[in-house]
Amino acid sequence: MHMRRGGVLLLGMLCGMAAAADPVCLASAKEAGTRETRCDDAGGSAIQKDTMCSKNQESPCMKRIAPGVWKIRCGEPETATPLEYREFKPLDGALHELGDTIEPPFSIEEVLYRSTARGCVIELPLGRDEDLYGFGLQLKSFRQTGKKKTLRVNSDPVADTGDSHAPTPFYVSTKGYGVYVDTARYVTFYAGSHPLASGIAAELAAGKTFAPDASASTLYQSDADQRRNRDMMIEVPVAKGVDVYVFAGPTLKAAVQRYNLFSGGGCFPPLWGLGVWYRGEGKFSDKEALRLAGELRREHIPCDVFGLEPGWHTHSYPCTYLWNSEHFPTPDAFIADMKTLGYKLNLWEHVFVHPDAPFYEEIKPLSGDYPGMLGLVPDLTIKKAASLFADYHETALIDKGISGFKLDECDNSDFIGSPWSFPEHTIFPSGLDGEQMHSLLGTLYTRTMYRPFVQNNKRTYGQVRAAHALAAPFPFVLYSDLYDHRDFIRGVVNCGFSGLLWSPEVRSCDSSEDLVRRVQSVVFSPQALINAWFIPNTPWFQVNREKNIAGEAMPDRETATMLCRRYFEWRMRLLPYLYAAFARYRFEGLPPFRALVMDYPDDPEVRNIDDAYLMGDALLVAPMTAGQTQREVYLPAGVWYDFWTRQPIAGGQRHLIAAPLDTIPIFVREGSIVPLAEPVEWVGEDTVFQLEVLTFGAACTPFTLYEDDGVSFDFEQGHMNRITLTYDKDAGPAAVKTGGFLSSRYDVRSWKHI
Ligand code: GAL
Repeated sequence: MHMRRGGVLLLGMLCGMAAAADPVCLASAKEAGTRETRCDDAGGSAIQKDTMCSKNQESPCMKRIAPGVWKIRCGEPETATPLEYREFKPLDGALHELGDTIEPPFSIEEVLYRSTARGCVIELPLGRDEDLYGFGLQLKSFRQTGKKKTLRVNSDPVADTGDSHAPTPFYVSTKGYGVYVDTARYVTFYAGSHPLASGIAAELAAGKTFAPDASASTLYQSDADQRRNRDMMIEVPVAKGVDVYVFAGPTLKAAVQRYNLFSGGGCFPPLWGLGVWYRGEGKFSDKEALRLAGELRREHIPCDVFGLEPGWHTHSYPCTYLWNSEHFPTPDAFIADMKTLGYKLNLWEHVFVHPDAPFYEEIKPLSGDYPGMLGLVPDLTIKKAASLFADYHETALIDKGISGFKLDECDNSDFIGSPWSFPEHTIFPSGLDGEQMHSLLGTLYTRTMYRPFVQNNKRTYGQVRAAHALAAPFPFVLYSDLYDHRDFIRGVVNCGFSGLLWSPEVRSCDSSEDLVRRVQSVVFSPQALINAWFIPNTPWFQVNREKNIAGEAMPDRETATMLCRRYFEWRMRLLPYLYAAFARYRFEGLPPFRALVMDYPDDPEVRNIDDAYLMGDALLVAPMTAGQTQREVYLPAGVWYDFWTRQPIAGGQRHLIAAPLDTIPIFVREGSIVPLAEPVEWVGEDTVFQLEVLTFGAACTPFTLYEDDGVSFDFEQGHMNRITLTYDKDAGPAAVKTGGFLSSRYDVRSWKHI
């Protein structure tokens, strides 16, 4: 425990000893506008059941609000926070299952809070051996220990500062807990990056002297020793208070689960959403879209969802949400033709409303005082604004057969000149300012657009370019125009810490090698998305943009097509396995894609691994990028199997894995059961998957297949089955079905023991 946890006394000592030199002392902070903290509901420092208040009046109270979840109210929080707009209740039953008698990871005595002229500051303890992860979709870094991160929604981050499409004020620790700061402000986390003045005072008081020869290299290193007496400092700008939520584990993984369950559980995409996605060129007409959709079928490229990009609107920047009659003269016929070919249709849009939009006049008074792309920015926190937006989509598009949407460019930018997005000082009718709206816009949109699907008992899966906190229940996947393959892989690794899903989408590529490597990565990700919005032909026809537009096939087109098809088929083989992983996300909050540190937090070897991840419980995926023919893969302790050769490999060590272009390194944890389906080209309402079940090792952990109609919410009324697959070498294989869904989606044809 840190010396600073003596709290005010130590702070006082420091002020007495070093006030002139140290501007951080309590006295000087008070002069700068600090005021007393008040305790939460319990009042004063009274101790109530489930509520712990510090005897130190400077500190707030900690109140248990759900199994393994505590709330610390500091000062007077703002009202416009992510929690205020949470759509779903916490899943208390599942939280209870994770353990109810658990203690908070730190005591209220260890929490310091103060209000300042800049906003407010919270300090939380951080142990010397702890490592921290999270803060949303951080594409540039993984292990956050020792870093300073300012969480700002931004589509064009230039450095590892915290800017992101989806920054989330939530972090988790290898010590087995998580912390969520309920704010829509651009909050800064000093994750053990700065020493505490009080900690230095304690060291001096204990007779420790500073090394006289502290060199630059010592200063710049951020190892555990450098982190002594450094805690988590969180500065929330503007706000004069904030609610902090603490999630117990006992493991890092359980803390993430609790955060997701507190958000309302993970999203549960329709079965078809987990298939392959293809987005056509931006200005495609109905004929061009149908040509390409037909070509995919002729080439037997599996594909479930076809996406239309901006050109379907009469005007796209800002949006009219009206079919462009020149390119889509008969939208109903087009939708029917695509349906006949087995496709679901997804439409691109943004949230900035053009004067021609049918709901423009009505939504105008419910919008911000600055435009976005010269369109209105509706205040989707206001019920009427959200209804106007959603109701129009429901009657004009969803009822006609559109299966989902992609919300683009809701993520602000520093570089694209005004009026690309609205400024931070924008005022919205609900009282939100532009900073808060930038943080919340992506999630408010997903909340708004999810409602009509829920009301119509249809599940959806879509894309969104920004998200923030408590977003796990919304079935939307993040994507980006940034295109660094290595960063995109890190996105898959990181997204699971924060209740987010991310697609390392494929566009045009530098070479067919780059294409195949990217296709391999996207196939083993939350959404297998080909986003060919600036090429009229497939990237496996031609990777080069100019030549693709000119209709010139690349010489190795056949090989590239064969390899891409093979990997899309692998996606379809793994669909029942993935669907089961998403069911666990929905009901248990367990992310389907996870960094290794989530499952092996005590293994120091995995704490920096940001280029390999777990997909479900069984598979460790280690993607490759163009130029690599081999790579190092660390396998945690235990026995693993090469997914392709099925040969056992010893864990607890690093291996140099050679992987020619047709192979992405994948390993199976011993004791796993992996159902593999005969690949279908798309998922129909009556598709029954023919399964071969692979078992790895002599005794396996049971695997639960999830069976329902795959498209509706009827599972919530019990219309679903769980099929438990078991195997051990003495008892042999078994499949036991329980539940109230009367049809079958799976036919277990064979078992293979490895
Ligand atoms: C970008 C978006 C792309 C594509 C394009 C269409 O902003 O990230 O995925 O939709 O717009 O113009």
